[in-house]
Amino acid sequence: MASATSTESPLDAIPVAPPDPILGLLEAFQKDARSDKINLSVGVYQNESGRTPTLECVRRAEAKLLESGEGHGYLGIDGHPAFVARARRLVFGADAEPGGPLADRLAVAQTPGGTAALRVAADFLHAQFPSSRVWLSQPTWVNHAKIFQSAGFPIGEYPYFDARSHGLDLDRMLDALGQAGPRDIVCLHACCHNPTGVDPSAAEWERIADILRDRNLIPVVDFAYQGFGDGLDEDSAGLNRLVAHGLELVVCGSYSKNFGLYGERVGAVAVRARTPRGAGAALSQIKSAIRANYSSPPRHGAAIVATILNDAELDALWRDEVVGMRRRIRAMRELFVRSLAEHGVDQDFSFLLKQRGMFSFSGLNRMQVDELRSRHAIYIVDNGRINVAGMTTATMDRLCRAIASVLAS
Ligand code: LMR
Repeated sequence: MASATSTESPLDAIPVAPPDPILGLLEAFQKDARSDKINLSVGVYQNESGRTPTLECVRRAEAKLLESGEGHGYLGIDGHPAFVARARRLVFGADAEPGGPLADRLAVAQTPGGTAALRVAADFLHAQFPSSRVWLSQPTWVNHAKIFQSAGFPIGEYPYFDARSHGLDLDRMLDALGQAGPRDIVCLHACCHNPTGVDPSAAEWERIADILRDRNLIPVVDFAYQGFGDGLDEDSAGLNRLVAHGLELVVCGSYSKNFGLYGERVGAVAVRARTPRGAGAALSQIKSAIRANYSSPPRHGAAIVATILNDAELDALWRDEVVGMRRRIRAMRELFVRSLAEHGVDQDFSFLLKQRGMFSFSGLNRMQVDELRSRHAIYIVDNGRINVAGMTTATMDRLCRAIASVLAS
């Protein structure tokens, strides 16, 4: 006979999870009925018309793919071979080419976006180094802690941002990393630090590399914004400093932003090993982690990227389009700083001009962020992060007027 409790709903008792701090805001924005709403929360690029464009190189690559009969078959566990070959080159440069010093020391697999690259990296590392701790910059992308905790890691934080100078707090960062244990994992941002927009200089990367090597730490480099900082090659200079120091490291790349392929979920996880054996073993373990997660990655977005990078004309067009996006973001930074001053904001926001990439840490506090949302229909992340790539010339006046009024109240 069924017991009295068997009719109780097991699901009715579970707690409701809080909305995601970034994607939850996107849901709230989409539901907001105000016609003049402005979304500066999720890291998505918009053009001057306020739309997220499909790049011209992507349009042409899709037309080519239709002709080519690419098909819809499963990819291998580690993804699209032509995409993987190009991704290696994009991240590590000519050294990754056949015959180059890194050629047989890399393990690279395609993943569904940069988030999955991080999750595969986390699963792989936790299986091999179960007693390590993961160190995250304070602050960092809101999803980092969740990803590494879900894989089983305890989390530590290292200071990164100096709120007074709006710059890098290098000494405190190095002090904290000096406390990390051997084989602890340190999550770094290759460029366009999310959320602060503050990146280390070449000399600062050297000092970071020294401490990582001296303490035998394992860097995981989140590389989601290649091309949005100073240029496609320039943006990998920091992580290539780590490689030059002989460090074994993991790079988690995303092609969402620089190819505008957000919903196609294109990313890659790459391990740089010191020996060919290490690279082979890492690839085998990464494939095992992928198979247990989602079996193999999606084909379409990776085929688009491979088509572009394997065609000299499309490759040149893509590079131009990345320059165009980077310049527009830069122009928005300049206009934003100027317009704030024109609206009577006497606080100095010129630090925004030194920051790189889509994001800036505005310094607005939680109350001001809430007021922007409730009174002005302007959405930014609770920690004060603003997506500069979501600003347009047309919305700048309204945005700066609202910020001026919030700062004054
Ligand atoms: C962001 O930080 O806004 C982007 O990386 C999108 C996301 O998934 O959070």
